[in-house]
Amino acid sequence: MSVTILSDTRSTGTEVAFQQCINPACRTKVSIDRAIFECPHCADLLDVVYDWDRAEVPSSLSWFERKWAERTDPENFSGVWRFRELLPFVAKNQIVTIGEGQTLLQRSDPVASYVGVQPGGLLLQYEGMNPSGSFKDNGMAAAFTHARMVGAKRVACASTGNTSASLAVFCSSTTFGFKAIIFIGSGKIAYGKLSQALDHGALTIQIVGDFDDALERVRQVAGRLGIYLMNSVNPFRLEGQKTIMYRILEAMRWEVPDWIVVPGGNLGNSSSFGKAFIELKHLGLIKKVPRLAVINATGAHTLDQLVSHHGLTWRNGLTDPDVINNYYSHLNREHLKADTIASAIEINRPVNLKKCLRALDFCDGVVREVNDQEILDAKAKVGAGGLGCEPASAASVAGARLLREQGVIAASDRVVCILTGHQLKDPTVTVAYHSADQEQFEKVLGSRGVKRAGFANRPVVVPNDLDTIIRTIGMYATTEEA
Ligand code: F0G
Repeated sequence: MSVTILSDTRSTGTEVAFQQCINPACRTKVSIDRAIFECPHCADLLDVVYDWDRAEVPSSLSWFERKWAERTDPENFSGVWRFRELLPFVAKNQIVTIGEGQTLLQRSDPVASYVGVQPGGLLLQYEGMNPSGSFKDNGMAAAFTHARMVGAKRVACASTGNTSASLAVFCSSTTFGFKAIIFIGSGKIAYGKLSQALDHGALTIQIVGDFDDALERVRQVAGRLGIYLMNSVNPFRLEGQKTIMYRILEAMRWEVPDWIVVPGGNLGNSSSFGKAFIELKHLGLIKKVPRLAVINATGAHTLDQLVSHHGLTWRNGLTDPDVINNYYSHLNREHLKADTIASAIEINRPVNLKKCLRALDFCDGVVREVNDQEILDAKAKVGAGGLGCEPASAASVAGARLLREQGVIAASDRVVCILTGHQLKDPTVTVAYHSADQEQFEKVLGSRGVKRAGFANRPVVVPNDLDTIIRTIGMYATTEEA
């Protein structure tokens, strides 16, 4: 195997990396020294683009395994920066890390059976193991590094909870003087996530409105006050999130799965996964490209509507703006707001829509939607047969099951579902699902259209009496063994 030996002596990386508008009719280039988060000419999305001929890239992915031997260096310990040669916008001594990306690809045969694929065919990429409990830390490591490079101090985001939790943790646990400002909608954030923002000392601004409103506001405020924006419209966030794909390939001994299935909210993840595979293919580091499935919640299904029902496609960047604008006008006219128990993906105007279309195009992707009942049942199956996740994450498993039922995924396929966030992010939903308390079920879930908890594991209530307790345990043990 031929290996290019890389040095860490690159100076600023500015020669290798730049930002560029994704609109093919524009393609304006912007230096990576700037933090502007939209094209200065046409306001379209920016990409971080590399001149790979000038970057130092290994000739084989297995080269990255050598970093494990050097993991006392925090930059090799990081599951993001271990792959820094594939996001070469930064010099080594500028890196920000909180130990993100120590995550796991877990085989789950119980979930395989639920989805309908063969044993060994279903793998759960558990991003809940990140320091703040969600995949966001991958993106934040890269965006905070960029913020450090441009000398930013105040950093802000709008969030359904996980972005803000991650941002707050990066501010509280690093030593570069970052100050966190977060915007959240009213009553739309799970308590586990809100508690993180508060506990880590972020200035938390709650506005009357939902995530889409909060994002619009934070973009205005960041522009006006010159605050560094940490939402996934920031292309550096997406660079960090590419590494989730590298870790999956690594865990599969550099084999490419048949499917990557991911929940879709603001569409940062799906966009970054697509970019990861476009680049790996371009660099000749993979031969096969996996298919991508992006799963919306029914109550927040803009992507599925546009792609599956209105024929929206990438068209080499010439996406039809009328299809998108007409759909958003329809949302406005009908006063339609996103509404799902999977609060993390309760988003109707995904900022990365066009980049996601590019990912779908490259990865022969599909989009589906699953309802709250399907999400919660899949979540219970993940909890019982894998590492626990929050509701939005389980959309991936529910979506894989649907695609299997539809014959799009084959029983023999190897499928990786991304579990984007930890179970403890949203205990209210989990407890309501499993609870024997009908009132609580109705209040939290019934009111949102969830009818039953088919896979509930109800607590068994017994008097505080030793004999009764022992008899009850015996009864349950016998039932299970029978
Ligand atoms: N899963 C979880 C647990 C999330 O927190 C999010 C997004 C998604 C999936 C969707 O990912 O936006 O890349 O399509 N949460 C954002 C937030 C919006 O504010 O925490 P996406």
